[in-house]
Amino acid sequence: MFPENRPRRLRQTETIRKMVKETHVLVDDLIYPLFIKEGRSIKEPISSMPDQFRYSPDMLPKVVKEIASLKIPAVLLFGIPKKKDKFGTEAHKKDGVVQQAIKMIKDTTPDLLVITDVCMCEYTDHGHCGVLDEDGNVSNDDTLEVLAKIALSHAKAGSDIIAPSDMMDGRVGIIRDALDDSGFENIPIMSYAIKYASAFYGPFRDAAGSKPAFGNRKSYQMDPANVREALREATLDMEEGADILMVKPAMPYLDVVRVIADEFDLPLCAYQVSGEYSMIKAAAGRGWLDEDTVIMESITGIKRAGADMIITYFAPKLAKMLK
Ligand code: PBG
Repeated sequence: MFPENRPRRLRQTETIRKMVKETHVLVDDLIYPLFIKEGRSIKEPISSMPDQFRYSPDMLPKVVKEIASLKIPAVLLFGIPKKKDKFGTEAHKKDGVVQQAIKMIKDTTPDLLVITDVCMCEYTDHGHCGVLDEDGNVSNDDTLEVLAKIALSHAKAGSDIIAPSDMMDGRVGIIRDALDDSGFENIPIMSYAIKYASAFYGPFRDAAGSKPAFGNRKSYQMDPANVREALREATLDMEEGADILMVKPAMPYLDVVRVIADEFDLPLCAYQVSGEYSMIKAAAGRGWLDEDTVIMESITGIKRAGADMIITYFAPKLAKMLK
């Protein structure tokens, strides 16, 4: 017999479950990353990321019309140039691959928000996120100047939000100044403030051809062991003028998402990165996990941890599931 005055859990019928749900994933929360490859008529499957493609700018109208029709509010662009060099010059060319893509998207779907990733790693022949000194180390201060140029060229091409992902010190401030000086005071900066040196970026580096030719990114990306350091990084970026903070990757760092959500009043974005995507796709492809359920559970977890918005390669799939 169940003891008389012992409390019982709320029995949740379908309707009650809906009413007591604490976390809601909305299509409005989603940002879809796109890889843009210089050239024409390109739609190239990314082998390490099933169902994701590299598109050339001319192929984008069809893609973004579909994204807009799913009511996904924003895309995040990564460029893959034909030519790479020591200084990542292609990244700030007026008609560079991302600049072309922004124009193409704005001509097709003007209301779709375009966020552009600002980093050098896809544009340098050595694959690092900055300019190297004679010893082959990334020179923080020399890199800043290039980053400001990239950000400004994105803004001129029509980008709505600038998202620096390089993790150099002082980049938010220098980009803010560069934008303000050229009349782009209203363009927000979404800072990859808390970016861990993560092996979960593996498939992305394959997709974007941005694997460092030597060494690793541990000198500028964060140690997975640290969370107080995340608070310091977020504080610096906020003081320099970041409008939105980001934690990346998401799933192995949900405690960090929670801390940043509690400690800062800036909007918070979390990036479910390529490795998180490919892991789910690989297991689902073998029938080891139920893909749709796991996608929703993983995104719900990120939202529950405190993220206001989520960058995810599952965005189109989720948008269909949420309909
Ligand atoms: C750097 C950048 C990376 C990602 C986003 N911006 C790669 C890196 O730091 O090596 C990774 C995103 C993902 O894995 O999905 N431009």
